Amino acid sequence: MASLSGKVAIVTGASRGIGRAIAERLAKEGASVVINYAHSADEAQKVVQAIASTGGRALAVQANVSQLEDIRRLFQVTVAQFGKLDIVVNNAGVAIYKPLADATEQDFDTTFGLNARGTFFSLQEAAQQLGEGGRIVSISTAATAMGSPGGSFYAGSKAAVEQFSKSLAREIGDRGITVNVVSPGFTDTEMLASNPQYKEIGAKMSPLGRLGQPQDIADVVAFLVSDQGRWITGQNIEAGGGVV
Ligand SMILES: NC(=O)c1ccc[n+]([C@@H]2O[C@H](COP(=O)([O-])OP(=O)(O)OC[C@H]3O[C@@H](n4cnc5c(N)ncnc54)[C@H](OP(=O)(O)O)[C@@H]3O)[C@@H](O)[C@H]2O)c1
Repeated sequence: MASLSGKVAIVTGASRGIGRAIAERLAKEGASVVINYAHSADEAQKVVQAIASTGGRALAVQANVSQLEDIRRLFQVTVAQFGKLDIVVNNAGVAIYKPLADATEQDFDTTFGLNARGTFFSLQEAAQQLGEGGRIVSISTAATAMGSPGGSFYAGSKAAVEQFSKSLAREIGDRGITVNVVSPGFTDTEMLASNPQYKEIGAKMSPLGRLGQPQDIADVVAFLVSDQGRWITGQNIEAGGGVV
C-alpha cells in the first residue's frame, strides 16, 4: 500500500515548480491533494490532470495565501471536499532580490505579505484543523543560512517562517503533529529563472555540481510527512545539495 494512502494534503503554490513536484509526489504515495494556486488556473488544472492520469486524486483551489480570508476558505474547501486534513505544505513564496538600500516599501510588503504573514496564518489554520498525527512542512530557503547580496528581505521573510515553525512544533507536539521546515538551495524553477545570476552560480556552489531539481525537494518533503518522519519535528532540513 502507498505510504500516504487515505491522507489528505494541501500544497500551497502547487501550479508549478517545487510545489507541483511535491503535490505529484504526495499523490503518488496515495494522498488526495489540494493544488493551491493564486493566478495560474490553467497550470493548476494541468497538475490535477497529471495526477488523475496516474490514478491519483487532486483538486485545484484558487486562493491568494497572502490573504487571511483566502487561507481560511482554502482550508474550509479542503475539509468540505475530502472530509478531513492530514498534511499541510506551505510552499507558496515570492523571491525579489534587490540590494537593501534600493528595496521599496512595496518589495518589502509583497515579500513579507506572502512568505511570512501568509505562512503564519496558514500555520494557524493547520494548527486548528489538523488531526492527531498531522504533518506540517513549510518551505524556507538555504539563503537564511548563507546570507547573500540582494537577499535581505527575502531571507528575512523566510527566517520568520523558520521561527514560527520551531515554536509551533512545541505547541502542538502533544497531538502527535510534526512541524518542520525544508530549505532548498538553488532549484531549477521559474523563480530561479527570474534571478539568472543565481542560476549561473548555483550549480557551482553545490559540492554535487548541479542545480537542484524540484523532485529533489519533493522527496525530502514526502519523507517528512510519511510515518517514517514521525520522530522529526521542529527541524530545518537543508535540501540544497550542500550549498550551506
Ligand atoms: N527555486 C529556488 O531556487 C528556491 C530556493 C529556495 C527556496 N525556494 C522556495 O520554494 C518555494 C517554491 O518556489 P518555486 O521556485 O517553485 O517558485 P515558482 O516557480 O515561482 O512557483 C511559485 C508557486 O507559488 C504560487 N503562488 C505565488 N504567489 C501565490 C499566492 N499569493 N498564493 C498562492 N500561491 C501563490 C504560484 O502560482 P500562481 O502563478 O498561481 O501565483 C506558483 O505555483 C518558494 O517558497 C520559494 O521561496 C525556491
